[in-house]
Amino acid sequence: MTEALASNAGACRLFTPRRSGHEHPDELASRRVTDLQTINFEGKSIPFLAGDTISAALLRAGVRIFSRSPKYHRPRGPFCFAGSCAQCYVRIDGKPSLPACMTLCHESIRVERQNAIGSAGHDLLGIIDVATPHGLDHHHLMTWNRLANTTASAVARRLAGLGTLPDAAMEVAAGETRHAEVVIVGAGEAGRKAARDMAARGIDPLIIDSNDGAIAIGLYAPNPLQPNPFQTNPLPPCGGGSGRGDRTLLVRRHNHLESISFENLILATGTTSQPLAFEDNDRPGIYAARGLVDLARRHDLRLGEHAVLIGEGAEGPRQAAALREVGYAVEEVALSDNLRAIGSPVHALQIGERKVDCDLIAIAARPAPAYELAAQVDAEVALVDNESVCGFAVVVDDEGRTSIPWLSAVGSVCTKR
Ligand code: FES
Repeated sequence: MTEALASNAGACRLFTPRRSGHEHPDELASRRVTDLQTINFEGKSIPFLAGDTISAALLRAGVRIFSRSPKYHRPRGPFCFAGSCAQCYVRIDGKPSLPACMTLCHESIRVERQNAIGSAGHDLLGIIDVATPHGLDHHHLMTWNRLANTTASAVARRLAGLGTLPDAAMEVAAGETRHAEVVIVGAGEAGRKAARDMAARGIDPLIIDSNDGAIAIGLYAPNPLQPNPFQTNPLPPCGGGSGRGDRTLLVRRHNHLESISFENLILATGTTSQPLAFEDNDRPGIYAARGLVDLARRHDLRLGEHAVLIGEGAEGPRQAAALREVGYAVEEVALSDNLRAIGSPVHALQIGERKVDCDLIAIAARPAPAYELAAQVDAEVALVDNESVCGFAVVVDDEGRTSIPWLSAVGSVCTKR
């Protein structure tokens, strides 16, 4: 395992970054020289570039292990780069379990890895994983003796959970309430098209997108099938609510909540990356291919030169092409039951008798539609299992209407009735 920490500006580029094609080279160069600021990572200064997430800054500095898993304390590193896998959680400014991939750097932000005794790179509790190759049944641990069991329970409690309580009571950030005629959740291709369609009809929709730091975390409607939004019983969230309707979208924007009442909502949440099942598939250095492409395009950051890509369905060749486009040399491998990741972070993939050296393993599994908000209001969903996606999708008609009168869905989150 190597975890180089950059101590100066020059060391922030472990691998030669390639241009993403979105920025002029002079722009990138000046950003590196003039905008260099640092975050505090476990007492050391790590530089970051303007617009870097904490994940990007740590990876740029060579940090691959971000925390340890509960129970077996296996090393963890980011996977999806999109806020959906919880693999990158770190302690930020004394607050536990926050997603490094969704948190922007700012000068002197304090970042610590969690869930380890010693360091996440050399966690004493990692011995549990080695010592229990066939699993650890913590329910029946040393039950033959009361004293022994009490001790075992204390150890089990130390092994469990994620992070520790915040350094101080967290301040309660003021909530905010808003109203919008139309809300679009997701600003990918489908969401942007929906916004253009709305604009053509003279409607200015409110767009909520995780890339702007706004995460839609809850959809609430006491009577989802009710077509008229102006009902009695308005939800009084975050200090009163707008009082205009009873449908509410809850959005977390950095450290505060927004409660948005609306008349119509369009889901354009797309799909989320999924892992694939093979031995040691949870090691740091195994990343969702889509996340790697995004990292290269948005942060001008590649995590090595040679990627081994394990693909599934149409997603395999699609993501292999995208990775090549951003500069990786890609070797494609089909999913089989004789694969094993080697190293932590990984440096090779064992395929039966053959070992393929690599800088990282990219996973291109069929993604799953991000249908959860629709499910919160009981919209009809259906299992879709085809070449391109695998998971529950929101059922819509030809016009994109769901089973809920005020809810539509567009793009890859939905399937036709
Ligand atoms: S939640 Fe951050 S990498 Fe998946």
